Amino acid sequence: MKAVVYTRYGPPDVLRLTDVEVPAPKDNEVLVKVHAVSLNGSDWEMLRGKPLYSRIAGPFRPRQHILGSDIAGQVEAAGRNTTLFQPGDEVFADILSHMGGFAEYVCVPESALARMPAGMTYEEAAALPQAGAIALQGIRDKGHVQPGQKVLINGAGGGSGMYALQLAKLRGAEVTGVDNAEKLEFMRSLGADHVIDYTREDFTRNGRTYDLVLDLAAHRSAFAYERSLTPGGRYLYVGGSVATLLHVLLIGPLTGRAAGKKIRLLAVRLGAQHLAPIVELCQASKIATVIDRRYRLNEVPEALRYLGEGHAKGKVVVIVE
Ligand SMILES: NC(=O)c1ccc[n+]([C@@H]2O[C@H](COP(=O)([O-])OP(=O)(O)OC[C@H]3O[C@@H](n4cnc5c(N)ncnc54)[C@H](OP(=O)(O)O)[C@@H]3O)[C@@H](O)[C@H]2O)c1
Repeated sequence: MKAVVYTRYGPPDVLRLTDVEVPAPKDNEVLVKVHAVSLNGSDWEMLRGKPLYSRIAGPFRPRQHILGSDIAGQVEAAGRNTTLFQPGDEVFADILSHMGGFAEYVCVPESALARMPAGMTYEEAAALPQAGAIALQGIRDKGHVQPGQKVLINGAGGGSGMYALQLAKLRGAEVTGVDNAEKLEFMRSLGADHVIDYTREDFTRNGRTYDLVLDLAAHRSAFAYERSLTPGGRYLYVGGSVATLLHVLLIGPLTGRAAGKKIRLLAVRLGAQHLAPIVELCQASKIATVIDRRYRLNEVPEALRYLGEGHAKGKVVVIVE
């Protein structure tokens, strides 16, 4: 089968489209013929090996040689101990823990698979898993957003931000989206009440405060985030620099405690099976999946470059023929 492979960290040029053996499903796995795979910030990070947390499985060289975690496709074969899926079933999954989606086939543990939501295309289903889980847990489950609250989403023009912004608006919040200048109009089109270009304004220094800051691109200190919170407000780190992650983990729990502020890491529970609430909102057309660009499997390097260089508004999807 064709797959996009890399064996060292680096720019998109280290990726090669090549022939590899079709993987054989283990007893608890299902072999899926991939129809669509969406790109996430995590693919870019694991390609580059930056930030350092993206090297957790392979400090010097990548341990997984095929990236791509959010897939949608059809079951081709099922392992001996699987019971839930038959060949031909349409499925989607988030396989961040072992990757392999930039390929014609991938093996997925049965427990990580879910049936394709009715009425969705492969590309829409592939767009949802990781970004949808971050949005749902960041805004609803851990963000506890209530009507009238002020919410700031840092990195709101990307994949997770696109869903998070719409979900926060649906819950009645006043939403500020932060991203680069190219994405300001896009964030407004998703319903953002206010937008900030992060290259021109530091939201932690403009004197405004929020009930929730959901941070998809964190690069500042816990003290800076504390300044941006209302009393009782919460800050959730999703992705960004390792220095900020350590600061949030070590200093966060103590910072702003007297004012009831919470500065924490959002450890996202991944898995397509947890996505039902956001799937329903998409099916009811209350939340839109915006696919900025579609690429073919042999164009994965260009697709990742487009995402990594900061152009992607919403999701980028690779269609596997
Ligand atoms: N905590 C968890 O459990 C968990 C689980 C899965 C994924 N993640 C993390 O989630 C993060 C976000 O993923 P994603 O797929 O939504 O990424 P994405 O689609 O690349 O979106 C990130 C957005 O943030 C913007 N951005 C970059 N630097 C910024 C800055 N300094 N200030 C404001 N915005 C900035 C990017 O714009 P530019 O184009 O300008 O760079 C982009 O629009 C990744 O870091 C990933 O590792 C966390």
